[in-house]
Amino acid sequence: MNTATARAHANIALVKYWGKRDTALNLPAVSSLSLTLDRFWTETTVTPAEADGVYIAGEPAAPKFAARALSFVDELLPGRDPVRIDTHNSFPTGAGLASSASGFAALTLAAAHAGGLDLSTEALSAWARRGSGSACRSLWGGFVTWRKGEADDGSDSHGTPLAGPEHWDLRMLVAVVASGPKPIGSTAAMERTRDTSPYYGEWLATSEADVDEAEAAVRARDLPRLGEVMESSTFKMHATMHTARPMVNYWQPGTLACIHAVHALREQGVGAWLTMDAGPNVKVLCAPGDADRVAAALAPHVERVERLGPGPAPTLS
Ligand code: PMV
Repeated sequence: MNTATARAHANIALVKYWGKRDTALNLPAVSSLSLTLDRFWTETTVTPAEADGVYIAGEPAAPKFAARALSFVDELLPGRDPVRIDTHNSFPTGAGLASSASGFAALTLAAAHAGGLDLSTEALSAWARRGSGSACRSLWGGFVTWRKGEADDGSDSHGTPLAGPEHWDLRMLVAVVASGPKPIGSTAAMERTRDTSPYYGEWLATSEADVDEAEAAVRARDLPRLGEVMESSTFKMHATMHTARPMVNYWQPGTLACIHAVHALREQGVGAWLTMDAGPNVKVLCAPGDADRVAAALAPHVERVERLGPGPAPTLS
């Protein structure tokens, strides 16, 4: 066992992952496509130690968090020696911004390196997926496709790089509507949606074509085309949640205010499109030259607006 440090960047799905065909392995029912972000990252160090320990920003992690991280490392490195895991985020945890994608990508890389595993990036991505589905897309910078795969063991369900961060300079503005805890975790919400929403079948039936369309739009740097398919994917995903029994609702009044603000911008000719995840925050994609105007339109409705751009692949040290 060696010491290894990895930094991995968060990603936001442009075409959404929602629904699992295998909950234990985090195998998705649909493919998805994401943008890796520049300023939001997790840095994780794995060090040989006398006893297992997990620390977030220098403080002992909550037992549930520590157990999840350590059992993940157990599976990656069977029969391993005790380790100390130190992790911190460049963005506040619990601020309504997902850290599980960057977190599990960084932990996979650091633990694999510390344990001397020699795995391809695709294999590392498949491992990160087992920690948190969306983490498999944080193994590359820029635009990444996650094809759902067919194999029962998940070996073909991993990210694939589509275009690096230099391919297309865009802005993703994160409007932080609220930073409290989620009403329901994403895994439970996905299962309820699958089991009870009459729209779930349509969601599955149309999502592969959305990924194909988004890939073509990214290759062509066609923002209206990408924005339209992104927004459609988001509202289809939330429609399956809203039609579950009982309803899964992550929206808050500020969420709807941001949706109206983005649509009003478009009526004024500004190229801005939105996406949302399993939370109340609204993320808006636009060209760099429109970012000031978009941020100004969102600001009155939210706690704050974070401005992000395309980010790099993870790094090891
Ligand atoms: O991060 P996970 O594996 O719990 O999945 C969350 C999925 C969404 O954020 C809602 C969509 C996505 O593709 O990231």
